[in-house]
Amino acid sequence: MEQFGLQNKTILITGASSGIGRACALECAKSGANLILSGRNESKLDEVSKDCGGSIVAEDLSSSQGVANLVDCIQNVDGIVHAAGIVKPFPISFVGEKHIREIQNINFNAPVELTSTLLRKKKINNGASIVFISSISSSFPYKGGAVYTAFKAALETYSKVVALEYAHKNIRSNCIKAALVNTRVLEETVNSLPEELLENHKKKYLLGFGEPEDVANAALFLLSEASRWVTGTNLILDGGLTAGA
Ligand SMILES: NC(=O)c1ccc[n+]([C@@H]2O[C@H](COP(=O)([O-])OP(=O)(O)OC[C@H]3O[C@@H](n4cnc5c(N)ncnc54)[C@H](OP(=O)(O)O)[C@@H]3O)[C@@H](O)[C@H]2O)c1
Repeated sequence: MEQFGLQNKTILITGASSGIGRACALECAKSGANLILSGRNESKLDEVSKDCGGSIVAEDLSSSQGVANLVDCIQNVDGIVHAAGIVKPFPISFVGEKHIREIQNINFNAPVELTSTLLRKKKINNGASIVFISSISSSFPYKGGAVYTAFKAALETYSKVVALEYAHKNIRSNCIKAALVNTRVLEETVNSLPEELLENHKKKYLLGFGEPEDVANAALFLLSEASRWVTGTNLILDGGLTAGA
């Protein structure tokens, strides 16, 4: 089981103040990792840090300056979970520059700039593993998700290029494509959709909606040596939603 451990590894987790990122932090700590916890909300980060240790860096990553500030606070890491993100449904005819920028900045620019800058500054150790939290919706889009799903798809492509360019340093890069997980995102979805529509959608999940810990367990695998032969791929976590698609 040692292969699944994260002893002596330093893992950076963005979006660690909430939902999937928070669950990743808790599970990584149980597996022995030293953590760097990133998010915007300092008091929520403090609470997570009380439970799992680690240092906190409160920065808004939707700006390049925020990303640069986070990079400055980091020495070297053995793994990253990019979980910071927002989901804001918008009908096609309402999509405009403001909406595109808002979704792009945190869902695409932040993980891309963060990864590329850390690599350029040699702050990602050889043998490290990078995990991007993407979405099943990049392959199976939904109404209202034009911009979100497009940038998640772009992120998946970026991840593959990281895998291609950094394999010689044994740095691996993978995405988790999650379907609906019980976080603030699901709460917002519940509030924005008619109950009947959501109930019908839920019936398509053979194993029901996911919990943040389900994603964290997959992230743990991808961060650990147990997945040393896995790079440039997308791991689907969807409770069976697309099994028959
Ligand atoms: N839940 C789902 O159904 C689902 C499905 C597929 C993919 N995902 C992806 O999973 C990731 C995590 O989402 P979640 O469900 O865990 O949602 P969540 O509970 O709302 O967590 C989002 C996290 O992102 C951080 N964040 C948002 N904007 C930020 C910014 N400008 N700068 C820095 N941090 C920022 C938040 O920090 P603060 O709270 O401190 O602001 C929070 O920690 C997202 O990338 C999302 O696209 C979620």
